[in-house]
Amino acid sequence: MNIMILGSGGREHSLAWAIKKNPKCDNIFVAPGNAGIAQIAKCININILNTSQILKSVREHSIDFVLIGPEAPLAEGVSDILKREGILTLGPSRAASQLETSKKFTKEICDACGAPTAKYKSFDAREPALNYIRNKRAPLVVKADGLAAGKGVIIATDIEMALSAVNEIFSGSFGDDNTNVVVEEFMEGEEASLFVLVDGENVLPIGTAQDHKRVGEGDTGLNTGGMGAYSPAPILDELVLNKALDRIIRPTMREMVKREMPYQGILYAGLMIKDSDPRLVEYNVRFGDPECQVLMMRLGGQILDALLSTAEGKLNDVKINWAKDHSITVVMASKGYPGSYNKGSVIGGLDELPSNSDFMCFHAGTEIQDGRFIANGGRVLNFTTRADTLIEAQKSVYQIIKTIDWPQGFYRKDIGWRAL
Ligand code: AMP
Ligand code: GLY
Repeated sequence: MNIMILGSGGREHSLAWAIKKNPKCDNIFVAPGNAGIAQIAKCININILNTSQILKSVREHSIDFVLIGPEAPLAEGVSDILKREGILTLGPSRAASQLETSKKFTKEICDACGAPTAKYKSFDAREPALNYIRNKRAPLVVKADGLAAGKGVIIATDIEMALSAVNEIFSGSFGDDNTNVVVEEFMEGEEASLFVLVDGENVLPIGTAQDHKRVGEGDTGLNTGGMGAYSPAPILDELVLNKALDRIIRPTMREMVKREMPYQGILYAGLMIKDSDPRLVEYNVRFGDPECQVLMMRLGGQILDALLSTAEGKLNDVKINWAKDHSITVVMASKGYPGSYNKGSVIGGLDELPSNSDFMCFHAGTEIQDGRFIANGGRVLNFTTRADTLIEAQKSVYQIIKTIDWPQGFYRKDIGWRAL
């Protein structure tokens, strides 16, 4: 079959890499892709928010199955339109995507189905929010309701900070559409991510992971899209996993059915775990990046069967074959990221990397110029290994990364420390 993936990051590179291992896959197209993806798939330069361009390309390449990587096209309703045109598509509807695009919506769903999460109050006007905060004690978490490129969550360590966060949100700093604020209790505990597939009704867990969001070693400094990740997450053991499924994920999915917006696609639950009890931090309606890279390294080609069954509503029949393995990914980024950085530097050593089933360098922000790889983004490369233990995977990834000659890049040297 012919498969199309929408997206251009390390997440989409790892999906293409894993899917290609499955004999059902004849041809794989990625739109728009990147220089690394172009080595294993055909890249199509279209705008993935433009449904007429997508539809034209789907027909031109006789695509049988479309997989949507990032949240932006889902929020735009691309999945709804493709499905309406009779194209087998994986990704939730625009309405169901509110689990990521509206914090208020998600909180209301949690209330309705009894899923444990932080206590909260939501506001659509500035003054009541400020008054509410003045009567509370820090720490508090202030959230812009809508998508805010990962910057819409402010952990306020004092009341002043919470008040100024509210002022910023209502002044339009996170986009004019962000006119709702959620103020919630700060939850203590350890964070981990759970990934499940949902076909509207059935839920299939496909892995756990933990990421490192901060730019600096020891989890310090500014927040990023993620500087590295590993799977499995030791804290999400079977007991905690089953509690998360029974108390949070399944009730949420039943509530979505009740509201006539059944969820179909990948669901990524950010959980806070304390004393073996998980609470929901947030949902994302897609794979995480770089979490997807470690999941694909472990799952390989079987992911295609699971994704197809999800899209066809037949998840009931699917079983994941688990190996007792561990995977880790280390992100190499442009110096300056997540602040400003230069583009265009040459990355050396990529041709000398090992080639085997336990290692892959997934590209995020690369381009080819004059036959050489150059950096054209903040997060640029994801070095990903697999081994019997996390410590072996970690040792091997840091050994391999030394092959790279890119003075304008940097990476964290301590990915995985929490689990080790
Ligand atoms: P984001 O992924 O941008 O939505 O950021 C959310 C991050 O903020 C989470 O990964 C947590 O680390 C943190 N966070 C959000 N809500 C809470 C909360 N209620 N208590 C503690 N930490 C939170
Ligand atoms: N790595 C976090 C995310 O994809 O949202």
